[in-house]
Amino acid sequence: MRNHPGHAVEVDEIMAHEADHGLIRQATLSDIPAMLQLVNDYAANEVMLPRTEVELCERVRDFVVAVDKDGDLLGCGALQFYTPRMAELRSLAVAPSSTRSGLGLRICAELMQQAREVGVEVVFAFTYVPKFFEKAGFQLIDRAALPLKAWRDCLRCPKFHACDEIAMAAFLAPGAEAHLAAEPPSEPNVEGPLVMPTMGKPRVM
Ligand SMILES: CC(C)(COP(=O)(O)OP(=O)(O)OC[C@H]1O[C@@H](n2cnc3c(N)ncnc32)[C@H](O)[C@@H]1OP(=O)(O)O)[C@@H](O)C(=O)NCCC(=O)NCCS
Repeated sequence: MRNHPGHAVEVDEIMAHEADHGLIRQATLSDIPAMLQLVNDYAANEVMLPRTEVELCERVRDFVVAVDKDGDLLGCGALQFYTPRMAELRSLAVAPSSTRSGLGLRICAELMQQAREVGVEVVFAFTYVPKFFEKAGFQLIDRAALPLKAWRDCLRCPKFHACDEIAMAAFLAPGAEAHLAAEPPSEPNVEGPLVMPTMGKPRVM
């Protein structure tokens, strides 16, 4: 393939771009210490939910990372599945030194592509940065339309009684909006009682 002159140039350009702007790949266990640091530094400023080492190990296959040419972490993000059609884009973080260079959008695009490949039709996110998600093709939605399971992590959020995150969703298939309004399937309550947090005034950053 690389013998084809045009193709070789294209591949070289892509590789040079990735070296300069970050290569996006699936996360591995060795990425976890740096991912913990990145996510939990932002979480300490109440910009996103904290993650534990156990959670990241359990969920490592959900994550993609962006790394520089030395292999240092520049960003990460995950896709977590809730129903056969719905997933949450979560723990999206770009290192402060690499923001506003398009990396967040590239991580998002990779996760959306993965969502399409497994048949997800609605990707939702909770955020304080609606402008970024608008750029990524998301729109504002009613938080109450999301599956109750999506609120599981909120139980340990310090803002449980005044949730100020904004719910947004990207619809990946025609008519996918209908999944937000659909009745949730009845399931045995094996995960304990789930309740929505109390809503506060949305915070925009
Ligand atoms: C939100 C975040 C992931 C964006 O990553 P990023 O790599 O800086 O984003 P991009 O460079 O791809 O931004 C693309 C566009 O989104 C918009 N955007 C990005 N960050 C923004 C911000 N803080 N405020 C308003 N608009 C923003 C801009 O329109 C931007 O284009 P521009 O730079 O040409 O104006 C990053 O700032 C971050 O990690 N924040 C802390 C954690 C967080 O809030 N995560 C998201 C929700 S869980």
